[in-house]
Amino acid sequence: MDSKKIFIAGAGQMGAGIAQTALQAGYRVALYDMQEALAAKGAKKIADNLQKSVDKGRLAAADKDACLGRLAIAASLEAAAEAALVIEAIFEDAAAKKQLFASLDDLCGPDTIFASNTSSISITELASATKRPAKFIGMHFFNPVPVMKLLEITRGLRTAEETLQFALAAGEKLGKVTVVAKDVPGFVVNRILDPMLNEAIGMLDEGVASAEDIDKAMVNGCNHPMGPLALTDMIGLDVLLAIMEVLYNEYGDPKYRPAPLLRKMVRAGYLGRKSGRGFYQY
Ligand code: 3HC
Repeated sequence: MDSKKIFIAGAGQMGAGIAQTALQAGYRVALYDMQEALAAKGAKKIADNLQKSVDKGRLAAADKDACLGRLAIAASLEAAAEAALVIEAIFEDAAAKKQLFASLDDLCGPDTIFASNTSSISITELASATKRPAKFIGMHFFNPVPVMKLLEITRGLRTAEETLQFALAAGEKLGKVTVVAKDVPGFVVNRILDPMLNEAIGMLDEGVASAEDIDKAMVNGCNHPMGPLALTDMIGLDVLLAIMEVLYNEYGDPKYRPAPLLRKMVRAGYLGRKSGRGFYQY
């Protein structure tokens, strides 16, 4: 097993961000997606981001080249075989995640640690798809991953203490501030943040204020770096809806009911920045 190798499944916004962070921390990374072209797109995003840092004088060109030299696009799941750590960052769908982990479980050695970047799905449930629940943990990063300092670590019911210590040490190597949360829907941040974003959408629907004014209020009244609607556009409306559904279904509490406007916009394909339109046009 290669202790400096991380296999990342999912090369979207989060997966590519995690990969970039790991490369800059000195890890070797195998980046996988369902289609090789998607993994290549993620790799290009990483190269572009690193180049921006070089252009700003924040990163030496030689260090950028070294990072890219440690990055490999994985054509298949087999590339996970000798990784010390697997981080899953695919879309928020419990069945898809479980299927992926079950396949990886057959390919990886018994000591490989499995981590999910899920923002709300139960770690205990995902771990149940494998024969290594003791070596399974939540490692939840924040968007944009190379910039945001936090890593939430979630212990499932059967996660071993050594696995928790491994994840805490990996978080430190990745340069993140870590917090440990129980396996409850939304963990710490999304339990607080997402109902606020959902409330802002409900207020927009009620006509309390314009999108611009709701955002302006929170930026200037609470010093948030961006307003709740702009942040939802960055996170993805579909991602927020998926998390609200988990909170609503798991707690059974109406306070987590997804705003009808959020549902409607997702149905219309207005997913935020990634689709060119959300609460704002891009
Ligand atoms: N990838 C990599 N780097 C990025 C980036 C990205 N997508 N976006 C911005 N950056 C970098 C910039 O390059 C810049 O780096 P530099 O300091 O080396 O020049 C730095 O971040 C600051 O960027 P900007 O000057 O362009 O812009 P801002 O100062 O306005 O900051 C922001 C942008 C960091 C996104 C800031 O607005 C912010 O912190 N917003 C809130 C983000 C947030 O709340 N994230 C959490 C979302 S919740 C979540 O992820 C959980 C999930 O489960 C839903």
